[in-house]
Amino acid sequence: MRWCIPAVLFFALVCSVRPDEVLPEPTLRIMARSTVYNVGETKAIFCKGENLVEPIQWYSPSGKLVEERSTKNSRVFVERKTEDNGVLVPLIIHRIKISDGGNWTCKAGNQSETKEFIVGEKVNITDRNVTLEGEEGKSVKLTCEANGYPLPVVVWYKDKHQIRDKEDPKKYTIKPDNTLEIKKLNHADVGLYVCKVRQKALSHYTEKTVHLSVQHKPILYNSDTQMIYTNTKYKTEEVYAILGDTKNVTCSAIANPPPTYKWFKRNNGYDDDAITDSDTVITSEDGTNSVLVLRIRDESYYGEYRCSATNDKGSESIIFHVNPGSKPLPPDTVQLAGANTTNLTFNVTCSSCNFATPDEVPESPDPKNLTVIGYIFQLTPLKLGYPADWDGAPEFRVDIESANNTLFTLGPLSNSTVFHVRVRTRNAAGNSEWLEAGNAATTDDAIRLSASLLLITVTMCMRMFGPF
Ligand SMILES: *[C@@H]1O[C@H](CO)[C@@H](O)[C@H](O)[C@H]1NC(C)=O
Ligand SMILES: *[C@@H]1O[C@H](CO)[C@@H](O)[C@H](O)[C@H]1NC(C)=O
Ligand SMILES: *[C@@H]1O[C@H](CO)[C@@H](O)[C@H](O)[C@H]1NC(C)=O
Ligand SMILES: *[C@@H]1O[C@H](CO)[C@@H](O)[C@H](O)[C@H]1NC(C)=O
Ligand SMILES: *[C@@H]1O[C@H](CO)[C@@H](O)[C@H](O)[C@H]1NC(C)=O
Ligand SMILES: *[C@@H]1O[C@H](CO)[C@@H](O)[C@H](O)[C@H]1NC(C)=O
Ligand SMILES: *[C@@H]1O[C@H](CO)[C@@H](O)[C@H](O)[C@H]1NC(C)=O
Ligand SMILES: *[C@@H]1O[C@H](CO)[C@@H](O)[C@H](O)[C@H]1NC(C)=O
Ligand SMILES: *[C@@H]1O[C@H](CO)[C@@H](O)[C@H](O)[C@H]1NC(C)=O
Ligand SMILES: *[C@@H]1O[C@H](CO)[C@@H](O)[C@H](O)[C@H]1NC(C)=O
Ligand SMILES: *[C@@H]1O[C@H](CO)[C@@H](O)[C@H](O)[C@H]1NC(C)=O
Repeated sequence: MRWCIPAVLFFALVCSVRPDEVLPEPTLRIMARSTVYNVGETKAIFCKGENLVEPIQWYSPSGKLVEERSTKNSRVFVERKTEDNGVLVPLIIHRIKISDGGNWTCKAGNQSETKEFIVGEKVNITDRNVTLEGEEGKSVKLTCEANGYPLPVVVWYKDKHQIRDKEDPKKYTIKPDNTLEIKKLNHADVGLYVCKVRQKALSHYTEKTVHLSVQHKPILYNSDTQMIYTNTKYKTEEVYAILGDTKNVTCSAIANPPPTYKWFKRNNGYDDDAITDSDTVITSEDGTNSVLVLRIRDESYYGEYRCSATNDKGSESIIFHVNPGSKPLPPDTVQLAGANTTNLTFNVTCSSCNFATPDEVPESPDPKNLTVIGYIFQLTPLKLGYPADWDGAPEFRVDIESANNTLFTLGPLSNSTVFHVRVRTRNAAGNSEWLEAGNAATTDDAIRLSASLLLITVTMCMRMFGPF
């Protein structure tokens, strides 16, 4: 009976262990965070097994058993290592190839798992920012070296708009190798071209930018309206100038390379000698325009002037007809209509001004009464004890949009400042005399404004109810 208790204990122990004697479930898993690989990489993909009876084996997509490392088998092989409870068998692939893509299987007895490895080659464009210059009338090819696997989706953009060659086949062709061909180049083709390359399977994106410039002959345009003169043989422009005033006649060209400008006065349809006086002809350094500063000392300064713009691609010219024009009348009244910290708003009236009616564009303008096209405001800060200093004071040019809209807002201005204000009207020929419009002030800030509103309210209340 002495050893009876231990025996019972032993029996109890065995009994309590019994349910655990049923072997735990065998499991097997391929431990791969990602199954998308880039060509040339070296990878170790682990297969983890637990409670397995049979050994873990790897099978290639063609169903072949993967051997252990040997001199003959040194690129794709398995490595056997045991870990305390489970078993980890890595599949090692050196310099992975596109042909390694496919369904790989890890197997042990009747346990198995299959994973599809995707092997791709990311597009790698070496020169991703290039500049290119084409020639007017010729074509140019913009390459996009999108060589990769799987084949990427390539889309070309010009200045953010997608290029669809099928919609404009005369202008564009996109070749099977993704080269964009632009035909019959002209100045409008100048811009930023971007080829966007996407490989969805590899979650890869890249792009290439091409800055395209085009050598072309000068194209003349009106710098006020930004309109290109239509391509007739003789380009002309009517210009009005006030006797005794200075009139700037501007000749503007889009050209690559930048053009040289020449100005001529014309007599009976023929050019006089070129005007070269540096006080009279002022050409911008970048070649975008040339200004003829005409001082209309007497009637003989009216007439025809020719401007020509020339570069090695060609030449264009325009004839300006400089006609006598009347000086406009100044406005009648100017009133401050609103103010805040940054802007001043004025109400300007001009009863004798000839305003354009919005519906009818004047066919032949009356040179004696040209339409008023806008106002020029000038503002200079008030200095107590000094007269207004207009020298170099900023000017604000506003356009009259309709005769019944008489309010004009100026800004940005410095806050809490009192300004002297003057205004003049302008027409195609020039400007009227100035109308002095007194002083106007920008406000300090919102707090001061509400304080003054409060003051007004208090004042009004006192007026309404009277002092007690
Ligand atoms: C891999 O297996 C999946 C599922 O069976 C199948 O859809 C896919 O086509 C296979 N991939 C290859 C490359 O055979
Ligand atoms: C796997 O094989 C074991 C014996 O090796 C067997 O007991 C089990 O039922 C099998 N499981 C499946 C799902 O076939
Ligand atoms: C792309 O190619 C260049 C040169 O050919 C190489 O230096 C670079 O590492 C490559 N980049 C990638 C992401 O493969
Ligand atoms: C691309 O090239 C242009 C002109 O060569 C240059 O102005 C620009 O800064 C470059 N951009 C980048 C991102 O390198
Ligand atoms: C005319 O152009 C010259 C030079 O650009 C400039 O200094 C002058 O202020 C302009 N005059 C007028 C009336 O616009
Ligand atoms: C001042 O008034 C102008 C015109 O009413 C408005 O456009 C502007 O936003 C205002 N600025 C501030 C700081 O309130
Ligand atoms: C502008 O001033 C005129 C004349 O003083 C007046 O008739 C008109 O109502 C004012 N317009 C506005 C919007 O204040
Ligand atoms: C100019 O035209 C306007 C509007 O048609 C008219 O009120 C004004 O009297 C004219 N001025 C001259 C000088 O003819
Ligand atoms: C100004 O006049 C035009 C028509 O001449 C009208 O359509 C518009 O509503 C008017 N605007 C105002 C602010 O009265
Ligand atoms: C008012 O001032 C702001 C600067 O605070 C400026 O951006 C805006 O153009 C001005 N508004 C007008 C109508 O001039
Ligand atoms: C007013 O101008 C001063 C200095 O120019 C600046 O420090 C201040 O912030 C301005 N106040 C407002 C409300 O814009």
